[in-house]
Amino acid sequence: MSRDPRYDILFEPVRIGPVTARNRFYQVPHCNGMGYRDATALATMRGIKAEGGWAVVCTEMVEIHPGADVAPYTELRIWDDRDVPMLARIAEKIHEHGSLAGIELCHSGYTAPNRWSREIPIAVSARPVSSDYHDPIQARAMDKQDIRDLRQIHRAAALRAKQAGYDLVYVYAGHGLGIFQHFLSRATNLRGDEYGGSLENRARLLREVIEDTKNAVGDTCAVPVRIAMNEFQGSAGLEPAEVEDAIAMMAELPDLWDLSLSSWSNDSQTSRFSEEGFQEPHIKGVKKLTTKPVVGVGRYTSPDSMVRVIKSGIMDMIGAARPSIADPFLPKKIEEGRLDDIRECIGCNICITGDYSMTPIRCTQNPAMGEEWRRGWHPERIRPKESESHVLIVGAGPAGLEAARALGQRGYQITIADAAREAGGRVARECRLPGLSAWSRVRDWRLLQIGKMPNVRLYLESEMTTESIVEVGASQVLVSTGATWRRDGTGSYHLRPITIAPAADALTPDDLMTGKRPKGKHVAIFDDDHYYMGGVLAELLRKEDYRVSLVTPSALVSTYTKWTLEQVRIQSRLLNLGIEIFANTDVTSVAAGHVTLTCVFTGKESTLPCDAALLVTARDPADRLYHELVTKNFPVSRAGDCYGPGTIAAAVYAGRRFAEEFGGTPNAIFRREVTALA
Ligand SMILES: Cc1cc2nc3c(=O)[nH]c(=O)nc-3n(C[C@H](O)[C@H](O)[C@H](O)COP(=O)(O)O)c2cc1C
Ligand code: SF4
Repeated sequence: MSRDPRYDILFEPVRIGPVTARNRFYQVPHCNGMGYRDATALATMRGIKAEGGWAVVCTEMVEIHPGADVAPYTELRIWDDRDVPMLARIAEKIHEHGSLAGIELCHSGYTAPNRWSREIPIAVSARPVSSDYHDPIQARAMDKQDIRDLRQIHRAAALRAKQAGYDLVYVYAGHGLGIFQHFLSRATNLRGDEYGGSLENRARLLREVIEDTKNAVGDTCAVPVRIAMNEFQGSAGLEPAEVEDAIAMMAELPDLWDLSLSSWSNDSQTSRFSEEGFQEPHIKGVKKLTTKPVVGVGRYTSPDSMVRVIKSGIMDMIGAARPSIADPFLPKKIEEGRLDDIRECIGCNICITGDYSMTPIRCTQNPAMGEEWRRGWHPERIRPKESESHVLIVGAGPAGLEAARALGQRGYQITIADAAREAGGRVARECRLPGLSAWSRVRDWRLLQIGKMPNVRLYLESEMTTESIVEVGASQVLVSTGATWRRDGTGSYHLRPITIAPAADALTPDDLMTGKRPKGKHVAIFDDDHYYMGGVLAELLRKEDYRVSLVTPSALVSTYTKWTLEQVRIQSRLLNLGIEIFANTDVTSVAAGHVTLTCVFTGKESTLPCDAALLVTARDPADRLYHELVTKNFPVSRAGDCYGPGTIAAAVYAGRRFAEEFGGTPNAIFRREVTALA
């Protein structure tokens, strides 16, 4: 297939200072939970992005000094010369496929608590450090010598970056994480000297560092600036009009303007809260201020949208973090006219949870993400079959569909059956919930791929029993029959069932997702799951005019969504909808007409009158069939929620892992780099 000429514009080269990008696809900086600890794994992942056609592939934020230490987060470092070989390996992998390597030098100012280095944090103005841990540490205000030192440190890092082979060396003023943004913003800059006050003064350090960097490495390296267009504090902080004024003052100084939003939760918004292109209203004024290339982001996966933003003069290059994670081969697929092969990001931010848990990045849509080196998985390729096996997969949810797709790609004969009328399992049900429609892409992409494979046959409305499984005559069975929500209140908080009166109207998420509704109008939701389900169902019921009370033993609604950057948005949405929230509260029993609440600190009980209770607690693996087949000595495995209920990402991963390991030796231990002793 060849590319549609409408997309030719996306493949035009773009000059960025002294270097040239071969097309307009730009993988903006994104961290990955691997950093300095998993350097070769990280290098391999970046190399695959380059292989997939991204003309520019950047690192994540890279600490430039021990005084910019964000431990325990696992980012790259460019503290001294010993870091150069690791950084060079990444640049080499990117260069192997003809792409440009970008490095985002970063000093995080008051967001670097220096837990590891134990340096006193520095900041534009004295203040407590800002961290997820609420460290009781303050950052001291930088004096003039500190400013001179910072410029020197940045310059030294830029020279090392050049030595390591990078083509683009960033000055970072974004996400509330780059110290130059802290200087630029009136929200954080309280200085009375020539670095504070007027916009010109607040922009002074940014200008000086751009000049320093250009002087140090600008002969061969491009110097992009990543800048926050909006801090969403109105005129108390940065907003587009003022940032545009700042850009206008320095318009031609850097080689490229890379625009984003601040803080990170505004920049990496999930599909539950924003559409593709959501940043356009904030960035559209910049291009007319400069002749330098402008990069913008906003979960772009559609080539038509990409062409639109370029033709309408909003940006010159399509910046992408998540679309490049979900599909490292997105540019190649557009180039080759294989649009329906694009694995579109679903906007769930599971990729971000890896960073917060300091573990390698994972992705719902792309199970190979983070596994390129340590397990040797490739997002597009998989080794061919080693036998003529016929595999029967029971359950066409995320695990089953991915296993069928990947085994099918290997060339095996695959039969996949599901009792339901539609494929997708939990994805088919959950994508109908408020804000989750983009999650259907997990199912749709796999169905599309399977549909092209003559060796994979999908049967719906086909409930499988041990007898019918024998009739299929497969040499191996994979059971991926999912899980069901528990009805008895057991979960993290209660390991044993709670008292539920027979006359009580007690429902589960499965009931709601299959159309059942509470009999009365007031529902108490007990959310002991802590991810999205409790909050989403609260929203669903409230929008259907139920009165909703959400009870959680946690201090926050949907606590885990802190790590997908959604928690604040979810809680404010629920509050704005008029949902009553009982935090730090447990449901100890459910009766007809009320639930009993208990304070998790004092044990004090109270009664909440309500017509029904919705129990969002834990799930039971639907593994009956698996155990029946085991007792009959059938060659059977299981994967996904029917083995260990978890995220959709975990289920897709389990399906892929089965397919990768089928016919070989299961590999429990992955490759890792072990610390060299001093
Ligand atoms: C997993 C992840 C890690 C990120 N880490 C960084 C980072 O280190 N530096 C940075 O400037 N932006 C970082 N970002 C923000 C992205 O560069 C990007 O601006 C944002 O995700 C919006 O683009 P997208 O919609 O294409 O994902 C990160 C985003 C993600 C998803
Ligand atoms: S984890 Fe979710 S948001 Fe992140 S890249 Fe993958 S599909 Fe997109």
